[in-house]
Amino acid sequence: MTQALIAPSLLSADFARLGEEVRSVVAAGADWIHLDVMDNHFVPNLTFGPMVCQALRKYAVHADGSRVPIDVHLMVQPVDALARAFADAGADVITFHPEAGAHVDRTLQLIKAAGCKAGLVLNPSSPLDALEWELDQLDVVLIMSVNPGFGGQSFIPAALKKIERVRKMIEASGRDIRLEVDGGIKTGNIRAAHDAGADTFVAGSAIFGQSDYRSVIDAMRAEISRPAAT
Ligand code: DX5
Ligand code: ZN
Repeated sequence: MTQALIAPSLLSADFARLGEEVRSVVAAGADWIHLDVMDNHFVPNLTFGPMVCQALRKYAVHADGSRVPIDVHLMVQPVDALARAFADAGADVITFHPEAGAHVDRTLQLIKAAGCKAGLVLNPSSPLDALEWELDQLDVVLIMSVNPGFGGQSFIPAALKKIERVRKMIEASGRDIRLEVDGGIKTGNIRAAHDAGADTFVAGSAIFGQSDYRSVIDAMRAEISRPAAT
């Protein structure tokens, strides 16, 4: 079984202390740092540019000096110029929404050529069509379980069915593709997302809304690994 990864979303961190927040959440056990990039055009909110990603890179390291991957979720339109800029700014994973790009396959190629892992993000109402033709180009599929744009929204249960379907597609492909879920993930529902087939879990408000980040991350991992109820 693939190792489950917890990816805290900085969208709910204290923006006045972002570097410290990254350091704290890494010390608390974060596997990836999820950076939500919003352009006030594709989504109705405005967040971080590539310079912020670059500035945060030096904080996304473990005590032994090894790096914690920065997972850039692009909610921008058009995609290509910013994908390139985030790759140059030290992103490790770059995902984008297929409806935001005119030439999805070309954008995936661009991200991979820049040395990053590439992924597609599916909104709650988005069909799986893009995956059918692009699965062999993907390192990550990100299923949105809220409508993108804001943190602190409630998990949309239909996402579980979508995760199940995408898990089957990934298994059938035989490829090593992460299945990430983003939006409304809490200690109380992470197990359902895991059981549906997700292996990478974005959580913003659930983690940064508490003072003890480690206890939330530990509780999430405990949920994922507890034996199934009989
Ligand atoms: C929403 C973002 C999510 C969001 C998750 O557009 O993509 O990453 O920050 O936040 P929570 O966990 O609070 O739903
Ligand atoms: Zn996100």
